Amino acid sequence: MTATTPEPLTSDDDWWRSAVVYQVYVRSFADANGDGVGDIPGIRERLPYLRDLGVDALWLTPFYTSPQIDAGYDVADYRDVDPLFGSLTDFDAMITDAHALGLRIIVDLVPNHTSSAHPWFTAALAAAPGSPERARYLFADGRGETGELPPNDWESIFGGPAWTRLPDGQWYMHLFDPAQPDLNWRHPEVRAEFEDVLRFWLDRGVDGFRIDVAHGMIKAEGLPDVGFNSMTTGQRQSELLGKGRLPYFDQDEVHEIYRAWRPILDSYPGGRMAVAEAWAETPQRLARYIGADELHQAFSFDFLDATWSADSFRKVIDTALAESTIVGAPTTWVLSNHDRQRHVTRYGDGEVGLRRARAAALLMLALPGAAYVYQGEELGLPEVLDLPDELRQDPSFLRTGESRDGCRVPIPWSGELAPYGFGPEGSELSWLPAPATWRGLSVAAQTGVPGSTLELYRAALRARHEHPALAGTAGGVVWLETEPGVLAFSRAAGPAVLTCVVNLSGAEVTIDGYGQPVVASADLTERGEGHVLPVDAAAWFERR
Ligand code: GLC
Repeated sequence: MTATTPEPLTSDDDWWRSAVVYQVYVRSFADANGDGVGDIPGIRERLPYLRDLGVDALWLTPFYTSPQIDAGYDVADYRDVDPLFGSLTDFDAMITDAHALGLRIIVDLVPNHTSSAHPWFTAALAAAPGSPERARYLFADGRGETGELPPNDWESIFGGPAWTRLPDGQWYMHLFDPAQPDLNWRHPEVRAEFEDVLRFWLDRGVDGFRIDVAHGMIKAEGLPDVGFNSMTTGQRQSELLGKGRLPYFDQDEVHEIYRAWRPILDSYPGGRMAVAEAWAETPQRLARYIGADELHQAFSFDFLDATWSADSFRKVIDTALAESTIVGAPTTWVLSNHDRQRHVTRYGDGEVGLRRARAAALLMLALPGAAYVYQGEELGLPEVLDLPDELRQDPSFLRTGESRDGCRVPIPWSGELAPYGFGPEGSELSWLPAPATWRGLSVAAQTGVPGSTLELYRAALRARHEHPALAGTAGGVVWLETEPGVLAFSRAAGPAVLTCVVNLSGAEVTIDGYGQPVVASADLTERGEGHVLPVDAAAWFERR
């Protein structure tokens, strides 16, 4: 244990079941030292903002020592903070302050691959084919007469072959960038190392882990071909993500790893948890990652992918809720993250997109289970679509032309000029430029402004905590009869009933009989006994 180990926050071991977790994309949240990149002291300074927003926990994307080829998802030292983001001392101070404010801290664990700068990989490169150093990764001889072809037809998620050849003729596997070699999870040293890394951060007081590529660590024995790829049939293998089986994802054996991790998490007080970033062929297979002997949560990316229609949301919600009932773990809702186009833009961009994004937030926050909010969604930020190519840094951009930089632009906090208070007073640097249109979207510009997206999130999060039918895990979803294109469900705790209504019908609707409005994503007008809910709006009503 480190000397700084903070006390666990409370003894509520089940806090994660209904938590709202705020995703901090560290390099874009707040920059305390003025180098244009967000850092841990920046997060520490802004903790009061997050407490006032009303979230329960933060998930911090990787801040570990890294060459930053994939924005820190290429880890060279799992037990240290990259100087770009601060130091371990800064981390300890930040977590102590967070706990004092009642905020829990979840860190990102990247176990599928290391950085090519990790000492294990440097040792593997220096060692001969067949050496113990290479056995911790996936090295193989090539096919073809002289081994000039990759060992199989696997494709990197970032485009191109999943194999890179070394001067000595062998190939190594990387499901992402060549700077992210995949580990061999059938090697006992790999398993022991990550169990120790878990303990390292648990000892420092973290409340949980977000497991990166949680479905990827085990590859099918013999590394069999998929049978097609962009080179052979033009279809990218990654199109099967979440829809089909691939020999390098969602192998049954991966669950052994989580069954070994769970007792470690459970051996610490205060409810330490883990959430899987996992992609599986079906919601049923996804649910296998969660439960009493594996991980606590798995993001429902089907919810994120639902299209703007009542049927689409209803189907995804019903399926996810049914699976969570079977495994006894909560559903984990998410609308945006650092890998996906921001939902304002996905839902149509501009005014329409914002209206829908605000309604979707009320839908998500009324559902039972945990919800993850991606930094900036509480400000209604859209995707930045027109970043100049030369500023884009996502490694997949070079390989596929697709870039995730547009959802990673630094947060606007205040002021008239970009980067809008992202750095200290007077600092003009930011690793990606914020558009001029973000001046009016800054935290300062929205604070205290009735109807702003920030005040909507604050009001919804407050109600979620305070209303008995929303608080904790109370109240299952009861769907109500509605007009076509309208979603309505109630949750109840004793006599208190909260009803969430979302209007996806394309025409205004009159809502009557659900009680008084608690919070609404657009102005409601009274009509007769009820209220008019505008197009693309949502509202919560209560009866006690
Ligand atoms: C996950 C991360 C993504 C990263 C990839 C490789 O999908 O969310 O940002 O590029 O893993 O680590």
